Amino acid sequence: MKRIAIFVSGNGTNLQRIAEYFSNSHDVAIPLVVCNNPKAYAIERAHQLGIPVRLITKKDINDTPFTQDLTGMHIDLIVLAGFLWLLPKCLIQAFPDKIINIHPALLPKYGGKGFYGAHVHEAVVAAKEPFSGITIHYVNEKYDSGAIIFQAKVALDENETPDSLAGKIHRLEQQHFPVIIEQVLNRQNP
Ligand code: GAR
Repeated sequence: MKRIAIFVSGNGTNLQRIAEYFSNSHDVAIPLVVCNNPKAYAIERAHQLGIPVRLITKKDINDTPFTQDLTGMHIDLIVLAGFLWLLPKCLIQAFPDKIINIHPALLPKYGGKGFYGAHVHEAVVAAKEPFSGITIHYVNEKYDSGAIIFQAKVALDENETPDSLAGKIHRLEQQHFPVIIEQVLNRQNP
């Protein structure tokens, strides 16, 4: 059984989709949701899904006991699903090639500090880009710069708005993220 920890900061639609995708799986379990925002709706979703939530502060995430707790739980993959803090070196080193993130644009464009959620879509629409999409990538110590695992593209319409683009990106995330997580887990050594 592979064990995933899902890190969230906001609404939690990806968390919900991933949990539902694996809900009848005999191979994948989600024993933990980690959240840095006490007001995140993702917490409510986790409760409804029956997944324990650990609420963390900046100090917690940077301290060794947090990393030790995760290694002690035998987590095989950390999935950042709308988690907006940079991860500390100790956590990244403890989970080499075992942390992935989803970003709502075609990296390396529209990535880095400040590019998250709606800010990304606003910038893409303002620049009149012909395409946007999603990127799923490994996580390192800089924002949005780890090796890319998967990208999916979508065309912008002439009258595209940040909101309408957000809807397209949301659908791509719902379609692909759990499938790519499954593939990453299957590629790991037993
Ligand atoms: C998702 O669109 C995800 O790609 C984005 O935050 C949203 C979270 O939605 N992540 C980033 O912008 C990371 N830089 P959710 O909480 O409903 O899953």
